[in-house]
Amino acid sequence: MIFLSIGPNYTWAQAWRHMWTRGNKADASKLQSLLTKKYDAQKALLFSQGRGALAEAVRLATGGEGKVAVTSMTCFVVIEAIRTAGCEPLYVDVDRHTLQFNADNLRRAIKSEDVRAVIVQNMLGIPVEIDEIMKVAHEHDMAVIEDLAHAVGGQYADGREIGTVGDYTMLSFGRDKMIDTINGGALVIRTTDVKNVVQPPLEEVPTIQQLRDRIYPLFACSVRGLFASGLGKCIHWFAYKTKIAVRSADDGTHPERTLPYWQAKLAHEQLKTIDKKVTMRLKNQDIYQKELTDFSVAASSNGVRWPLLVENRSEVLAKLKQAGVYAEDVWYEVPVSPARLYKTVHFPEETCPVAVQTTKHILNLPTHQLVGAEDITKICAIIKKEAKIWK
Ligand SMILES: Cc1ncc(COP(=O)(O)O)c(C=O)c1O
Repeated sequence: MIFLSIGPNYTWAQAWRHMWTRGNKADASKLQSLLTKKYDAQKALLFSQGRGALAEAVRLATGGEGKVAVTSMTCFVVIEAIRTAGCEPLYVDVDRHTLQFNADNLRRAIKSEDVRAVIVQNMLGIPVEIDEIMKVAHEHDMAVIEDLAHAVGGQYADGREIGTVGDYTMLSFGRDKMIDTINGGALVIRTTDVKNVVQPPLEEVPTIQQLRDRIYPLFACSVRGLFASGLGKCIHWFAYKTKIAVRSADDGTHPERTLPYWQAKLAHEQLKTIDKKVTMRLKNQDIYQKELTDFSVAASSNGVRWPLLVENRSEVLAKLKQAGVYAEDVWYEVPVSPARLYKTVHFPEETCPVAVQTTKHILNLPTHQLVGAEDITKICAIIKKEAKIWK
């Protein structure tokens, strides 16, 4: 069986190690130093989640007022982070080929609004046209926040590393990300022009949450291993019902919480070796790209997942499932994901029609360590047989 998510960054051995890893203050300092050096920054702060780091970035970038331009294919927690900082989102429609906004869309969306910052997401590791976007940001006196939740280890077209260009860089170490410690995040401050006093997160993550983070990889390995027998599904249902596991978007935003030392140690190890992971994923991405050219969008620079656009998504997902490939966890199936919370954000569908359509047709395929060339070839055969090109 092949899963797009459910702990793909964890084998049993990695999950076991994650469970018992210990860390100390020096590990947190090492991670901060590496971030500061890698992203050529003034300072790096460690947070319990990426959304906390993003909320602090928005607060520093805007002074806690006005609007923040954000892509219209994003995650619910991004919008929550903007609101936690005291701002409102200004959604910018996407380009269907790159799955994110370009400079023209951004310029059109701003009009005469009080937009104080722009979040650049580099969707699925696909690099944005950063120079053009920086130009618009300068024209409108907006700070640029690079959100690396999808894009750690990726590059812009000119070879600059993603995260080394804007005023603030935010990283997520959440589940399924390139750096995955189940929860975690960082804010890298690359500017001296901050509009608020920096508030380093000082509170500890509650013990219950740390326990959940500790056991999640073992839980995920069990679910995957027992899925075929039906027991995996039951364990999955039971864990969420009893809150042994919690859905990521339900966790709230806690900019006051810092990253536990043991997770800092694991994040440091993963960030140091990120190039190896990128190389592995790009190799897998290459197979998809060669086999499924007609379905592909712009190429990702880190291969976090392989996105494609199809006419008949639910049919294709059902056929994949019949063949033992579970790929329902799409980034993103609605403009502000997950679908169960979409209505609550009051997304302005009329101003972002391309995003509304594109999110109905996008699929993601796995590139992670648990899939090999043979699996990918099998997936490609199903797509070729069952999928219709979205025109
Ligand atoms: C694009 C994007 N930015 C930021 C975040 C926030 O990351 P975290 O889950 O670590 O809070 C997410 C979460 O998945 C995301 O998808």
